[in-house]
Order: sequence, then C-alpha cells, then structure tokens
Amino acid sequence: MLMNGLVFKNRENQKEGAFNAMEKDEELKMDTFYHLPILVRQVMDMLSPAPGKVILDGTLGGGGHSEQFLEAGARVIGLDRDPEALAYAEKRLGRFGSRFSAVEGNFADAARILDDLGIQKVDGALLDLGVSSHQLDDPRRGFSFRETGPLDMRMSAKGTCTAADLVNHASTQELAEIFLKYGEEPRASQIAHRIAEYRCKAPLKTTEDLLTAIGPVLPWHSVRHPATKVFMALRIAVNQELESLSRGLESIASRLGTGAVFAVISFHSLEDRIVKNFFRDRSREWVDRPEWPAPRRNPEFSFRLLTTRPVEADEEEVNLNPRARSAKLRAAAHL
Ligand SMILES: C[S@@+](CC[C@H](N)C(=O)[O-])C[C@H]1O[C@@H](n2cnc3c(N)ncnc32)[C@H](O)[C@@H]1O
Repeated sequence: MLMNGLVFKNRENQKEGAFNAMEKDEELKMDTFYHLPILVRQVMDMLSPAPGKVILDGTLGGGGHSEQFLEAGARVIGLDRDPEALAYAEKRLGRFGSRFSAVEGNFADAARILDDLGIQKVDGALLDLGVSSHQLDDPRRGFSFRETGPLDMRMSAKGTCTAADLVNHASTQELAEIFLKYGEEPRASQIAHRIAEYRCKAPLKTTEDLLTAIGPVLPWHSVRHPATKVFMALRIAVNQELESLSRGLESIASRLGTGAVFAVISFHSLEDRIVKNFFRDRSREWVDRPEWPAPRRNPEFSFRLLTTRPVEADEEEVNLNPRARSAKLRAAAHL
C-alpha cells in the first residue's frame, strides 16, 4: 500500500544484489522477531505522545517505538532508508490507518519530506540510530560477520557505494582511516594492509572473504567478535552515517514546534558526541569568549536540555537485550 508518492519509490530501480534477493520474500512474516526497541519507557516519558500530536520517527525500523506512539494516540510519520523496514512496519502498523505514514527517505532530508506531506511542524521527534537487529542478522545484507553474504552493507539500494567497493578500491591509507576513525580499531593499519594484499590476488566479494583477509591480524581472544569494529566502521562509511546525522539534526530541528521534544539514541561515541554538541551549542542562551568584552547572546539558542548526561538502559533491559548496553539517549525541548 502506498501512503504517498514517496513510499517504496526505489523498488522499481533497484540494483542487482542483496536487494533483489529481498524481492523474493514477498510475504514478510509478521510473527518473526524483527527488532526489540530500546529505552521505550524513557522515550515515551520524554516525547509524551498523545491524540492531536504529530511525532516524527526518523528511524522507523521495525516500528517498535512508533507502535507505542500510535498506541498513545499520536499521528506518526515514520522514515527509513530501507524499503524492507518500511514494508515490515507498514504491515505491523497498518491498523492505525491514516494516523501512520511510512516514507522512504533519509532523515537528513526530513524537512523536505515533511514539506511534501504538507506538515509544517512536529510535536516530537526520535532518532534511534544505526541498523536494526533484522538488518544485522540478515546475511543477504552483508552487515554480519556471523554468516557469509555479499559485502554490501547499504541501508538503501539507492546508495552507490557498497562495502565491496570500499575494500576493493579505497587506498590502504583510506581504509586505515575508516577503521581507526569509525571503528576506533587499534589494528587499523595492519587490517588495511591485509586487505590490500588479499585484493592483489582476488577481489573481496563476501563477508567471508573479508574475514579470511583480516583474520590473521584480529585478536581472536577478545570477548566480542574480533571483527566487530571493522564491520561497524565499514557500515558507517558506506552509509555516510555521521554526515546524515549532522544534516538530520539540523533538518529535524528546523521543523520542531514550540515545546517539541527531540530525542536521539546513539550507539557509537562519535554519534553521541555529535548529538551532545548539537544540543549543548543550542541550549546556551549566552556565549562568551576570552577576546570578547562581554558575553553575547547565542544566535543558535533554541533548546532546553532535558538530559545533561545521557540516559542509559538499566540492568534489566541490558539482560533482556544486550544491544541496549551501548545505547545513549539524549533529549532537548525546542523553545
Ligand atoms: C535501530 S533501527 C530503529 C529501530 C526502531 N526504533 C524500532 O523500534 O524498531 C534503525 C533504523 O534506522 C534506519 N536508518 C538509519 N539511518 C537512517 C537515515 N539516515 N535515514 C533514514 N533511516 C535511517 C535503518 O535502516 C534502520 O531501519
């Protein structure tokens, strides 16, 4: 079902690869576990969804958070880059009728998407960053080191660069920088050199090829899978996640009504830093610099901080959902 012209637009022009394989799964099984939403109670307390309110869920995923907003009576605009996530959420949340709109798009373009829907302002917004458990666990998407799949890692088939493109064509220096910056991987340089050696003999096509290439320099005694950081770094680079986050924060902030709460859940220190600085820079009424004779009014002042420290999941939630361990929730109210 098309909620508007934007939804599923790119199904017609998908590239070959993992996304075409998904076409075979016409019937998405609704009883299949998709993704357990994180910090739900805290997000609900902050956003206070209610009848008459419009909430923007910029990372719809399996629709877990959106379902709660809808149950509370709000109208929800759910965005996702991934057509498969949209298809699942549409089925799951179809019972809410016109109160729910699923739109394919990048939250970095939230303002334009809201324009297209004729919505000027929203009463709350959520970003729950990264990938869903479903995306991570599906070998066809290439996000997982646990099973063999194509080295894809794109959240959207519209993305022009895959993980295979990066590992086969980026310079050794560029790869090392990706692993160091996005993965905080101490063996970044060694790993990049292993990839460069491997691809001289044959291109890396699958997640297994990547593991074979870098295996000898990974710390196999570590608690987490030793390739976790490498895979995460490639995913962040392929999807330009930090660039989208910076643009998305600006774009969404421009559409918040008075009193609207903007909540962001991040899982990576670089993401959390971007969110922290964004809210901090806009929640100071006055700014001062040593070279100024007196403090000046901050032209960006537009938020009241709701979290001076990030909210984290409690032990009970982490036991239920280990992915919640690294989640950090920050929020601010628009003035
Ligand atoms: C962690 S999941 C969200 C889970 C969701 N809150 C739930 O309860 O099911 C993140 C989702 O955001 C999507 N996503 C990530 N970056 C995005 C972006 N820049 N624009 C739109 N969607 C994005 C991913 O495709 C994924 O489906």
